[in-house]
Amino acid sequence: MSVSTKTPSRTARRTWGFSESVIREMTRVARAHDAINLGQGFPDFPAPDLLKEAACQAIRDDVNQYAVTWGAPRLRTALEDKYRRVYGMEVEGDREITVTCGATEAMAAVLLAVVDPGDEVIVPVPFYENYGPDAVLCDATPVHLPLEAPDFHLDIDRLRGLVTEKTRAIILNTPNNPTGRVFTREELQAVADLAIERDFLVITDEIYEHILYEGEHIPVATLEGMRDRTITVSGFSKTFSITGWRVGTIVAPPDLTAAIRKVHDFLTVGAPAPLQEACAVGLESLGPEYYQEMVDKYRERRTILVDGLQSAGFRCAPPAGAYYILADFSEISPLDDVEFSLRLTREAGVTPVPASSFFHDPAMGRNLVRFVFCKENHTLEAAAERLRAFTGAGG
Ligand SMILES: Cc1ncc(COP(=O)(O)O)c(C=O)c1O
Repeated sequence: MSVSTKTPSRTARRTWGFSESVIREMTRVARAHDAINLGQGFPDFPAPDLLKEAACQAIRDDVNQYAVTWGAPRLRTALEDKYRRVYGMEVEGDREITVTCGATEAMAAVLLAVVDPGDEVIVPVPFYENYGPDAVLCDATPVHLPLEAPDFHLDIDRLRGLVTEKTRAIILNTPNNPTGRVFTREELQAVADLAIERDFLVITDEIYEHILYEGEHIPVATLEGMRDRTITVSGFSKTFSITGWRVGTIVAPPDLTAAIRKVHDFLTVGAPAPLQEACAVGLESLGPEYYQEMVDKYRERRTILVDGLQSAGFRCAPPAGAYYILADFSEISPLDDVEFSLRLTREAGVTPVPASSFFHDPAMGRNLVRFVFCKENHTLEAAAERLRAFTGAGG
């Protein structure tokens, strides 16, 4: 989010600091140069046939009108089963689940429902680019908590130092975009203890909960004493490779859910009805083999891209979760991240995202770019080849 120096008089002040999503901007640049787009996190492979069939069937069955505002009953039941089966978490679909138009709407609806103007929301850095603007939409103040390089762990004393009387919530994203970090039980427990001690909410973005190569995914809501002060955001974009369907989920205690549902109702009324049915079918019918195969394939893609980047001269480590790699290019080029990304697009034919967009202080991302590996092996192999050719020719 960069701050505009203009003060347009016909638009609300809260929008003045927003700039267009750098990620979507890079997608346009990639198209213009016919480059391999490793910027935006959308798969270039198909969604499971079972889901596609289920969506078509739902449309043929005339599931074409508004769904129940907080989510199709079948989907909420399937989510209850999932949370019980996977995490041993008892969730009441009637009072604690809201289905939204993606995790994107979920996060906005949650913050609008629980944050007042003037409140502070702690956002770890680097961050997924929506959290700060979501806080600003609530006239709240994002407070930035830098994660500790090089492994991006969370320093609890640093967090403790940022908590004030105005702290309403912290947003935790694990597995993390863009760092690939999976927070450990110790880190999450430390945040949970502090949240209880200082009375703030923990809002978790768990959209990559099933894309995990090392460690364990621990929903904060399952930690002792945290069920009542955790709001769990997730969705199907990544798990089922359907980023265009726009189906997200929120699990929250009943009093918070009641407020979240009111906001969600006014924002969007509901998520797409036939697609909710198809997501329910996905949850009901895809067993552990599906999730295992998905992770195995991502692991292979991770190896191709990490090896490709390292052999082209980037410094990077394999992420523990999600499908992003933050890569340091300082040994390849003295340019800043934006210039380097544009040059890579134009001259190498591969598009990353400049990492300054994930930091409140752009200087912190100056030598970093983010690549995604939610792409077919051959796409990643071609990108690696192009990068090697580019840097081998002098970068
Ligand atoms: C951390 C994180 N949260 C949320 C989203 C958006 O999810 P959705 O497509 O469900 O809106 C993304 C997409 O890249 C993401 O990386």
